[in-house]
Amino acid sequence: MAKNDKNEKNDKRSPSYGQLEAGAERARPILHQNAREIQPYGKISRLPIALDEKVCATSAENLNQILADTITLRDLYKKHHWQVAGHTFYQLHLLFDKHHDEQDELVDTIAERIQSLGGISLAMAHDIAETTIIPRPPRGREEVPVQISRLLEAHEIVLKEARTMAHQAADDGDDGTNDVLVSDVIRTNELQVWFLAEHLVDVPVVRADKANASAAD
Ligand SMILES: [Fe+2]
Repeated sequence: MAKNDKNEKNDKRSPSYGQLEAGAERARPILHQNAREIQPYGKISRLPIALDEKVCATSAENLNQILADTITLRDLYKKHHWQVAGHTFYQLHLLFDKHHDEQDELVDTIAERIQSLGGISLAMAHDIAETTIIPRPPRGREEVPVQISRLLEAHEIVLKEARTMAHQAADDGDDGTNDVLVSDVIRTNELQVWFLAEHLVDVPVVRADKANASAAD
């Protein structure tokens, strides 16, 4: 009985939920809202940038392909950053992360270029997985040469499509898109290819190859 008496006392002192919320209705967040999209994917919201909507639509579509592949390549770098193994672990762990961060900057540049054209950037993993043309890697860990080969092949896919799209943007008079593709996408990818490819040159680490030296003489 003594315990019940104590609970009753507490109930009398504590205010009800209604009393607690009274007067604060205007500050309450309105949750669970839903409405139609303000712009469906694939449509152009015309902006005053002196570019024909058809050109904007073509560039946005091309850039979304590059965006999906760049997001995939970025994530491939993070996968390899985590999963790399062997005596070059530390060096490659850092290099893969550096390239990941540079690809991440490209992602933002490409996505915001699409929005600047009045288009809509892809964003979610589901859409990226459906759009990218970079082959899906296995979930498990791979040897370093396989990791690097996989990255180089992904870079080449991006570079090939970026060049074609850059030419198309130039022909269409879309200089801004051409500039993003050449100055940002192509130059960054080419530089990263160099840094990676040098790791697959089979040269001696400690002792020079005497057999080759005498053959050259
Ligand atoms: Fe990390």
